[in-house]
Amino acid sequence: MKNIVVIGAGTMGNGIAHTFAQSGFQVSLVDVKQDNLDKALKTITTNLDRIIAKGNLTEEEKAKTLGNITTFTDLKEAAPNADLIVEAATENLDLKLKIFKQIDELAPQNCILATNTSSISITQIAAATKRPEKVIGMHFMNPVPIMKLVEIIKGYSTSKDTFDMIFEMSKQLGKVPTEVNDYPGFVANRILMPMINEAIETLYNGVAGVEEIDTVMKLGMAHPMGPLQLADFIGLDVCLAILNVMYDGFKNPKYAPNPLLVNMVMAGKKGVKSGEGFYDYSESKKAEKVSKMFLK
Ligand SMILES: NC(=O)c1ccc[n+]([C@@H]2O[C@H](COP(=O)([O-])OP(=O)(O)OC[C@H]3O[C@@H](n4cnc5c(N)ncnc54)[C@H](O)[C@@H]3O)[C@@H](O)[C@H]2O)c1
Repeated sequence: MKNIVVIGAGTMGNGIAHTFAQSGFQVSLVDVKQDNLDKALKTITTNLDRIIAKGNLTEEEKAKTLGNITTFTDLKEAAPNADLIVEAATENLDLKLKIFKQIDELAPQNCILATNTSSISITQIAAATKRPEKVIGMHFMNPVPIMKLVEIIKGYSTSKDTFDMIFEMSKQLGKVPTEVNDYPGFVANRILMPMINEAIETLYNGVAGVEEIDTVMKLGMAHPMGPLQLADFIGLDVCLAILNVMYDGFKNPKYAPNPLLVNMVMAGKKGVKSGEGFYDYSESKKAEKVSKMFLK
């Protein structure tokens, strides 16, 4: 595998493109908005500079990594040369079904189609294509260049060949792949999202304030980041979408998103990416918080 197409240049897409490019793959990064592609390249450049500052990359390797990335707003231009497509567009079932139908038509027969979805059924996404045996979940964690884990999710029809190839490729990226079956939220979000939702419920019930809740979990449970700040980093819209998938998928009220989370998303308070969530990320503060997170 040489040519990788990454669809979506948001929080995850830029990290996935960065990681593949730094490992020597040719990456075509696709987004519907040119502005998001420009932002993604800026973020990748800043993050490469941080890695240089830590002494883990040379200027030459940075230039090579950036040289491995080409951007596109039209999937039709990028998909025909792909060996692997990793979809990291917005967490929305209809959108993902539409994208997979389209890439199934555009990509070469032997191309593997992976999704970075946090919770949506791989089996259902695969059923939108004529190659369900080549569809798989490749769930990277945020921030992708730093986090070691990749959940590798087998859909009902995913073949052993596809699984083995993606498992090995994840190791080539310096990641630790972990095999998981296809149920709503997989493992990571099945466990993480109820904790985040409960932290929001604790705030909603007035048990404690934002910083107090995060302090309890940081200092009391040795979590590197409190659950409310983590929700801001993930994106509150993404958290809401994941909880809704688990709520619908299991028909279990324990996954019902807290009304405060629903309200915040409706008000456009999506966390770091919108500048405000449980914390304020106005320009100066944002840079401070993001770099602290990255340098940990
Ligand atoms: N945020 C996280 O921490 C996290 C972690 C793991 C997995 N995920 C998953 O990764 C995926 C992306 O999440 P994100 O947080 O990066 O979202 P995001 O909102 O930051 O970015 C989504 C990007 O997709 C683009 N997009 C929308 N429709 C498109 C299309 N048809 N073609 C190309 N691009 C399109 C948008 O313009 C946007 O730039 C979701 O499935 C999410 O569940 C997120």
